[in-house]
Amino acid sequence: MPCAAGDAISPDAIGRNAIGRNAIGRNAIGRNAIGRNAIGRNAIGRNAIGRVAESGPGALTGTVQGVKNLLVTGGAGFIGSNFVHYLMEHTDVSVTVLDKLTYAGNRASLEGLLADRFELVVGDIADAAVVDPLTERTDAVVHYAAESHNDNSLHDPRPFLDTNIIGTYTLLEAARRYGKRFHHISTDEVYGDLELDDPERFTESTPYNPSSPYSSTKAASDLLVRAWVRSFGVQATISNCSNNYGPYQHVEKFIPRQITNVIDGVRPRLYGEGLNVRDWIHANDHSSAVWTILTRGEIGQTYLIGADGERNNRDVVELILTGMGRPADAYDHVVDRAGHDMRYAIDSTKLRTELGWTPGFQHFDQGLRETIAWYRENEPWWRPQKAATESKYTELGQ
Ligand SMILES: NC(=O)c1ccc[n+]([C@@H]2O[C@H](COP(=O)([O-])OP(=O)(O)OC[C@H]3O[C@@H](n4cnc5c(N)ncnc54)[C@H](O)[C@@H]3O)[C@@H](O)[C@H]2O)c1
Repeated sequence: MPCAAGDAISPDAIGRNAIGRNAIGRNAIGRNAIGRNAIGRNAIGRNAIGRVAESGPGALTGTVQGVKNLLVTGGAGFIGSNFVHYLMEHTDVSVTVLDKLTYAGNRASLEGLLADRFELVVGDIADAAVVDPLTERTDAVVHYAAESHNDNSLHDPRPFLDTNIIGTYTLLEAARRYGKRFHHISTDEVYGDLELDDPERFTESTPYNPSSPYSSTKAASDLLVRAWVRSFGVQATISNCSNNYGPYQHVEKFIPRQITNVIDGVRPRLYGEGLNVRDWIHANDHSSAVWTILTRGEIGQTYLIGADGERNNRDVVELILTGMGRPADAYDHVVDRAGHDMRYAIDSTKLRTELGWTPGFQHFDQGLRETIAWYRENEPWWRPQKAATESKYTELGQ
């Protein structure tokens, strides 16, 4: 699931036409290459966490399969920090976060965590001198750190290669050296997009067809993980998740940008008709799925994570407006941007049937209402980012 890009109303700017499907065809990196052969706290959602077993492997004891200490990369970012809060609330594990604290990382997202179970190390995942000793002393690595914003990848791809590819390589080498369990967080954007009227959804065997520098570097990192399993026996799993929403998401991204704009009295702008569809999942449900895979997933396997949350952009904007007491049509249309990915949709049957996971938020509207409430109640968290983010978008003409 892609990182929802934060342009005005369109979760991502990357497109079929911009980097066309035909140019980098679906079969270019086909099923045989990576599909079948793939080796073989906040107030939000506390009561709505994804369900996993009460006992047995994967139960929320925090000590299953010897996992007592976790290294979480990118744990000061949106989804990583939600995962850290999830671990603190629902398991016994101790957590070390390794995060470079780029513009997307925020110490404030980790405030208030118990000092005896939590440590933040500021450093680069591409720096083996930092990564190696942290990996040596942990039981498992959960790898969230990435350059994650599609729009940024179009303007300056280089950091995406450094972090998403070289950073992942550096971590894999450390996991290999010290024989540590590794879980790699990825996105459904590696699969490209679907037509609006396509009955299909992405599955674990959908061929890779990334559109943007962001998604292509995530695809590359997935392939590295698979190769390190095959070639070196690294004990790794991969998950590809759909668009996340929830607390602690940077205001550059689609949903928080619109919520905070409405708080500031700014009318949302909808690109084109707003028919592009994204498959939304609450970050808490992503966390419970990752914990499930980490503790009971099969080594070498890929699991798709999704919550059947398909919504088009127009619906999302109208839900935000009505959820914030504004008329549903209090937004403006602007000319569509060339080449938006049309539709993402995840089939998470494998994760649900093989590992017994289900999302806690069964209704997007409920999760969205709680997310709106979180941004209303946590203005000190997002306010410092807002002006700089908007002036960046203004510079880019968005
Ligand atoms: N946001 C989504 O909807 C979504 C969906 C599916 C998958 N994902 C994946 O989940 C992961 C996290 O996404 P997010 O939305 O939380 O991203 P984010 O941009 O909010 O957070 C990324 C974090 O990584 C850190 N980081 C960046 N470069 C680093 C480096 N070189 N070394 C150490 N830390 C570094 C940043 O400081 C930040 O804290 C990514 O791998 C992304 O591809 C995101």
